[in-house]
Amino acid sequence: MPMPMTFDRKIKIAPSILSADFANFGAECRAIEAEGADWVHVDVMDGHFVPNITFGPATCAAIRPHIKGVMDVHLMIAPVDSYIEAFANAGADVISAHLEAGPHIHRTLQAIRGAGAKAGLAINPGTAVEAVEYLLDMVDLICVMTVNPGFGGQKFIHSQVAKVAKLRSMIGDRPVHIEIDGGVTPETAPLVAAAGADVLVAGSAVFKGGSVSNPAPYGTNIAAIRAAAEAAL
Ligand code: DX5
Ligand code: ZN
Repeated sequence: MPMPMTFDRKIKIAPSILSADFANFGAECRAIEAEGADWVHVDVMDGHFVPNITFGPATCAAIRPHIKGVMDVHLMIAPVDSYIEAFANAGADVISAHLEAGPHIHRTLQAIRGAGAKAGLAINPGTAVEAVEYLLDMVDLICVMTVNPGFGGQKFIHSQVAKVAKLRSMIGDRPVHIEIDGGVTPETAPLVAAAGADVLVAGSAVFKGGSVSNPAPYGTNIAAIRAAAEAAL
């Protein structure tokens, strides 16, 4: 049984398996958790909302037994509503949908909670933070994209740091996580942690230098991102 999610604002590192060995997802999930990952971030792409294609609910269900903690599913798909149930049934703890993926994000967020998952709202770098104002009471997490979604290994977009600070004050004392996705490294993690983010997704910066047969670099990389973020608080 996965652990129930409780809310706190401690720094959480969420490696993205987009940078893992796609032929070894189960072992990769076990390795990153053994090396200190807090959450496992799962990037679903449809070749339509974003230019890249990854995998769907069947893969999520297959990796679920290999994840002890939080399975954080980031849907970069449009339309999204018709697939929510399938990802919830696959065991996602958090399901994030993009505000830009359709005209009815309010309904989408209701559907995610209705399916029994925590509701995440992802916003692209070009989306104004004010767009989330009327959604704040229906989300458990807001994912601020610090790259344009679609690919790992892109450069962090610095203009998003001010967006995170603004979002933090808009959220006030609501139990809402701020997640950062894209270009997170020990250099950029302190900027977003200081601005109020608590969940840091990192793909290339976690998986670089390691493998399932040599997972120690994952641990070193996770620890370096965490230490840099915590030092900024
Ligand atoms: C981008 C994905 C990210 C990506 C992050 O569309 O949502 O989760 O894997 O990768 P890095 O950390 O390499 O920027
Ligand atoms: Zn992601």
